[in-house]
Amino acid sequence: MSSLAGKTGLIVGVANKRSIAWAIAQAASAAGARVALTFQGERLEENVRDLAEGLTDPLVMPLDVTDDGQIARVFEEIDRGFGGLDFVVHGAAYATREDLSNPFTQTTREGFKMALDISAYSLIALSRGALPLMERKGGGSILTLTYLGSERVFQNYNVMGVAKAALESTVRYLAADLGPKKIRVNAISAGPIKTLASSGVSGFSSILQIYRDRAPLRRTVDTAEVAEAAVFLLSDAGRGVTAEVLMVDGGYHATGM
Ligand SMILES: NC(=O)c1ccc[n+]([C@@H]2O[C@H](COP(=O)([O-])OP(=O)(O)OC[C@H]3O[C@@H](n4cnc5c(N)ncnc54)[C@H](O)[C@@H]3O)[C@@H](O)[C@H]2O)c1
Repeated sequence: MSSLAGKTGLIVGVANKRSIAWAIAQAASAAGARVALTFQGERLEENVRDLAEGLTDPLVMPLDVTDDGQIARVFEEIDRGFGGLDFVVHGAAYATREDLSNPFTQTTREGFKMALDISAYSLIALSRGALPLMERKGGGSILTLTYLGSERVFQNYNVMGVAKAALESTVRYLAADLGPKKIRVNAISAGPIKTLASSGVSGFSSILQIYRDRAPLRRTVDTAEVAEAAVFLLSDAGRGVTAEVLMVDGGYHATGM
């Protein structure tokens, strides 16, 4: 497996042990990285602190990505704790339950703004915060998580599909902006996995079944498979890759009929 020895990273999006970001935190730590985990709100603090106990010398701090003050404090704390930053994993996404079950035409202005703010704009805000710390290390790697619903219609994915389209475009613009500073920006497009976030999508189990029936590998993926691909992109093994959306979905994206 690719090495992250001596590197430090910020991982946003751990809610519980099923979170994709948690699998990435474990894999990054196993590959030698020291990581900072964030939790969104007091509700998730205990979960994240418990999980972090299994890592080597982690930082743990609160972060709601809609709050610029909290974003600034996270990078101040990382600066004090790590003295620089090599990678960021962005695994935050949110849309209301109504917007993930109602007909798409019923998407509210408020719901649209919130989904795009939390799920797409936050990548820009985190990249901006990470920039001075990564410059100090001579470069870095930023990674986000997306889904094929950005390009194709999946029932009830709705406004989250629009947010993922914005997120993938954001990856390309950030990659162009930050590439001259040796900072790479990529996304992994994961196949469907049962998590807190995906359980908000009405009828999610039927999406899972379609992957079992039709993906070339006749299955979906698990969080460990996504995490190993993530470590590759975060590490020097991925040094030539930027502005990419890497499909880790059992090949489902290639299927027509
Ligand atoms: N599970 C899947 O099938 C799947 C497939 C492809 C992509 N993804 C993406 O992977 C990422 C991680 O999701 P997951 O499936 O592991 O679910 P998850 O529920 O474990 O993670 C989503 C995270 O977003 C965080 N979050 C939501 N609003 C936030 C806010 N305002 N500030 C900070 N954090 C906030 C939550 O606290 C949670 O930790 C998401 O971007 C999701 O869209 C998931």
